[in-house]
Amino acid sequence: MKRIILAALLCLPIMAGAQVKITIDPTPNGVNISPMLYGIFYEDINHAADGGIYAELIRNRSFEDNFRHPADRPDAWYPVGETSLELETEGLLNDAQKYCLHVTSDGEGEAGVCNDGFWGVNAVKGREYRLSLWIKVNVGSGFSASLVGLDGTCYASAELNVNLSEKGWQKVTASFVSNANDNDAFFVLTSKGEADYCLDVVSLFPPTFKNRPNGLRPDLAEMLQELHPRFMRFPGGCFVEGQHTPDNAFRWERTVGPIETRPGHDNSNWGYRTSDGLGFHEYLQLAEDIGAKPLYVCNIGIWHGGVTPLDDVQCWVDECLGALEYANGPVTSKYGAMRAANGHPEPFNLQYIEIGNENNQDDGAQTSDHYYERYRIFHDAILEKWPETHIIGNVAAWGTDEPRWHTDDPVELVDEHYYRSPKWFTEKFEKYDAYSRAQPPVYCGEYAVTNGFGDLGNLNAALGEAVYMMGFENNSDIVRMSSYAPIFVNENDPRWKPDMIRFSADAVMGTPSYYVQKLMSDNLGSKGVTVTEGKQILQPARLQDWKEQVAPGVFVSASLDESENVLIVKIVNTGYETQTADLDLGAFKTSGGELIQLKAVSGMAENTLDNPTNVYPVSRHISLDADAPSFCIPAYSLNILRLQRD
Ligand code: AHR
Repeated sequence: MKRIILAALLCLPIMAGAQVKITIDPTPNGVNISPMLYGIFYEDINHAADGGIYAELIRNRSFEDNFRHPADRPDAWYPVGETSLELETEGLLNDAQKYCLHVTSDGEGEAGVCNDGFWGVNAVKGREYRLSLWIKVNVGSGFSASLVGLDGTCYASAELNVNLSEKGWQKVTASFVSNANDNDAFFVLTSKGEADYCLDVVSLFPPTFKNRPNGLRPDLAEMLQELHPRFMRFPGGCFVEGQHTPDNAFRWERTVGPIETRPGHDNSNWGYRTSDGLGFHEYLQLAEDIGAKPLYVCNIGIWHGGVTPLDDVQCWVDECLGALEYANGPVTSKYGAMRAANGHPEPFNLQYIEIGNENNQDDGAQTSDHYYERYRIFHDAILEKWPETHIIGNVAAWGTDEPRWHTDDPVELVDEHYYRSPKWFTEKFEKYDAYSRAQPPVYCGEYAVTNGFGDLGNLNAALGEAVYMMGFENNSDIVRMSSYAPIFVNENDPRWKPDMIRFSADAVMGTPSYYVQKLMSDNLGSKGVTVTEGKQILQPARLQDWKEQVAPGVFVSASLDESENVLIVKIVNTGYETQTADLDLGAFKTSGGELIQLKAVSGMAENTLDNPTNVYPVSRHISLDADAPSFCIPAYSLNILRLQRD
């Protein structure tokens, strides 16, 4: 067997530690790697939707979010000039609205209201903003809307075309272009002289991802697209379940249609109200726009703190079937027609359904109740109407490292969740090697390092996850799908840490975990090959490693991209020493390819919004030189070699 040694160009000027021999048998005799292995799990957590990817700039646009203040003042709205603001509960726009804002002013000059958005309205020079609002005027004239800085500088404004002879509700639209940059601007609406009017559903949008109406922030949506996710699980986790009452759960039918008909709900699990502006339709559209298959998690009549008794669960089954009809039904069906009316006559092809979220704990008191019985009812009803559906079941989500499906009920995949330390993830590199193939296949729907991740998410955490993902690939006959959790966090109100994409009103960054997700997804082979030597070399831990919960070592996996004739070798060094590796590729003849590295001088390295590329993948062409002595595997690194077959 010819031994190929990578060229000296790979050696960095770092002292090499121990020698590692990596021997790969390039025969395509490993597992078929699931093309669906890498996807994303989107949850409305940490202001992922309102104040996040949902591009709406006005906070509390419908005046329903009033519980942070005494009930007479809506969150995020402030008087401008001699104005009095009152929440009104009579003469409302429609049944979905429980409040509107009554504005009165008897002063001279301009007065009105302003909104400070989600920790600032992001004014960008040259950007056009589209305004729509509902107004009912008793007295008032000279209405105008603007974007204004804290010091009163006006960046953009438009006169509003309000019909003063109309005494009922009317919709007014306008647009304006900002002449300056200010990520902490205000939206201001004023009238001249005496005024007495009501406002509702005041909405301001910048340009959106793929120009979708009621759409998404392009920079955040592009971060998702860049992951090339094969599927998108949505709309959560706990967000699906809700808390205290079933009205705080995600009820898909309340989240579709014109925005003024959406009541919104209390996202009580994560401590803020959601407008449901990003609703069921927009989730399906997002999945389609980023090339991901939608995976909908349905509520099975269980929320945090209560359940619908098993005997009465049919209403939740109907709700799930309605969602499927909305996504897939013909335009002649009730919900298919609704989808068409909302701008998407073609079906969305929703074929993945997860029955419940974390609802199969052994202890029925832990958001679980008759899980298998519920599962069976949903499973049978869904498959009867939509036989192509891939059904995913819940297994115990916490309290065990070996959750299992305890019945003979047919299930395509079971959803495992792991929030652990970097050490746990690296030590479980071979976890699925030992998983009984008689068990149902696995969708690892939520996993992340949540102990020992530093401040926002460090490289140690990302490398631990990378090692675990290499274990998925080695066992992809059984691990068919996976998704990191959670994705988004608005830096101004983190509710869960770490998260792989952090953002403010005008900036975004990925953690090292984000880049691991991207690199693993972009470099997914189709067939596993065997690493016969040097697959896992653990090293002694230092005090620092104990503290950071890291297991130092070198971990190797390999696969073939059969359509491209490329051998993909993934090598993670979680240790503190650069390693010198000899690579033996057996019969695989190659003269080079591409090396992609994610590395830093310390496992504690992180990205921040000010320095978003501190830990960032770098790629370069490599050629192989049989005379070169070694291949350096830097400390704290993920290395992906894409070697082209000669
Ligand atoms: O990812 C955050 C939460 O963790 C999810 O909502 C839930 O499913 C899990 O417990």
